Amino acid sequence: MKESLYNQLKKYKNLERSSFHTPGHKGHFFSRYNLNSLDFTELPATDSLYEASGAIKLAENRVSKLYGSESSFFSAGGNTLCIQAMIRMCCRAGDKILCDRIVHRSVVSAMGLLNVTPVWVKRLVDKSTGLASQIDIPDLKFKLKANPDVKAIYLTSPSYYGVLQDLKLISEICRRKGVLVLVDNAHGSHLKFLGLHPLDQGADLVSDSAHKTLPVLTGGAWLHVNKKEFKNTAKSAMALFGSTSPSYPVMASLDIACGWLEKNGFKEYKRLKCRVEEINEIARRKNIFLASDSHFCDPTRIALGTYSIGYSGFEFRKLLYKFKIEPELCDENYVVLIPSPHNILTDWQRLKLALESIEAKEPKTIDLKFEKTPIPPAKATISEAILGESTQIGINECLNKIAAEVICPCPPGIPVVMPGEVIGTFEQQALKYYGAKEINVIK
Ligand SMILES: Cc1ncc(COP(=O)(O)O)c(C=O)c1O
Repeated sequence: MKESLYNQLKKYKNLERSSFHTPGHKGHFFSRYNLNSLDFTELPATDSLYEASGAIKLAENRVSKLYGSESSFFSAGGNTLCIQAMIRMCCRAGDKILCDRIVHRSVVSAMGLLNVTPVWVKRLVDKSTGLASQIDIPDLKFKLKANPDVKAIYLTSPSYYGVLQDLKLISEICRRKGVLVLVDNAHGSHLKFLGLHPLDQGADLVSDSAHKTLPVLTGGAWLHVNKKEFKNTAKSAMALFGSTSPSYPVMASLDIACGWLEKNGFKEYKRLKCRVEEINEIARRKNIFLASDSHFCDPTRIALGTYSIGYSGFEFRKLLYKFKIEPELCDENYVVLIPSPHNILTDWQRLKLALESIEAKEPKTIDLKFEKTPIPPAKATISEAILGESTQIGINECLNKIAAEVICPCPPGIPVVMPGEVIGTFEQQALKYYGAKEINVIK
C-alpha cells in the first residue's frame, strides 16, 4: 500500500540518514524555536512582506547591513521568486538579456512569463573533468558588442558542482558597457563568510537561496540589491509573482539565521572549510577526483568525481547509503554533497568511514561526445514556446521540431535545447545519447 506523504516523510526521517543535502539547518537547528507557533498572517503587529514598514523591514535592513548591500529583501518563495524579480527589475516585455547558458529552469520560466528574450553566452567545458567551467569571455565581449541594447547579464555562480565564475572580471567588462550584472547565487549564500560573495565581486543584483546552505527553512531566500535605483522597485517586482500568504515561520527563520550569522558566520564557515578539507584529503588519498582541485570552486562544496575510481555517481550513492549518508545530487560521473556548520560529528564520522572503505575500480573515462553543445537557432521566443500549444513526442520524431521545454543533461549542465529552439540532427543525437525518451515541442 502507498504511504501518505506525512507517513512517508516520517518513515524517511526514521532512517536517520546524515543530511549532505539542502536545507542547511540539517533538521536540528530550529528544534528549540517552536516555529509553528509563529505561523501568523499579516496583522498590525506582524508587518506585511510586500509593504514592509515594521518588523520585516527591520529584519531586511539587518540582512542588508550584514551583507553590505544597498538593500536586501526577504522571499518565502525561494530563490525562484528572487530570480523572477531580478529579471523584472531590469527588463520590460520585448527586451533582450545576455544570459549564461547554464541556468536553472526558473530563469527560463521567468523569461517566458515576462516575455524577455535571452542572448545566450557560451560556457567553456573542461575536457578532463566534464564540468562546465568559466563563461567564454571572448564570446561575452562579442555578444556585448553585437547587442548594444541589452541592459543586463544573468549569470549562475556557483554551479551545483561549486564552480565559481570570475565575477570581478565579468563585472568590470560589463560595467564598461553600462550592463548590469545579475547573479543567481542560489548555492552560495554562505560565500559572504568566505570572502567570495558576488556582492563583493561587483555584482549589481544577487539572489541567495538562503535555505540551501544556511540555517533557514526551505523556501527562505533573500534578494540583494547594490544599486539605489532598485531600492523601490524590488518589492513590486516580488509582489508580481509572490504568494500573498508568505510563510511567517520561513521569514522568522531568515531573521534567526541572520542573527546566527552576525555572531558566528565567519568563524563557522572557516571551520566548515577545514572540515571539508579533511574530507578532501581522504578523497585524494583514495584517488577520488575532486572538482575543487581543478576548478575555481566554493571551498565548502564536495563534488566527488566518482568516475575516477570506476563508479557512476548512482553506484556511489548506493555505497553512501550503507553508511547512512544522503547526498544532494548524483549523476553519471559525480556525487555532490552539501555540508553545513549544522552537520553533527556523526555525519562527518560516517562520511570519513564511507570514503575510507571505498574500494577503487578501474577508472572510467568521461565520454564528452556531445560536450561541445552548439546553441541551436531559435524559431520562437521562450514565451511563445512555453505558453503556446505544445505536444509530447518521442525523440525519434523530434527532428526539426521546435522545443517547448528545456532539456539539460548533468554534467555539464548545459541545456541541449531551450524552449523555442530548433531540434537539429546534433540535438536529436545528443538527446538520445543522454537517454531522453520524449520531448515537449510546439504544435
Ligand atoms: C542554480 C539554482 N538557481 C535557482 C534555484 C531555485 O531556487 P529555489 O528552489 O530556492 O526556488 C535552484 C534550485 O535548485 C538552483 O539550483
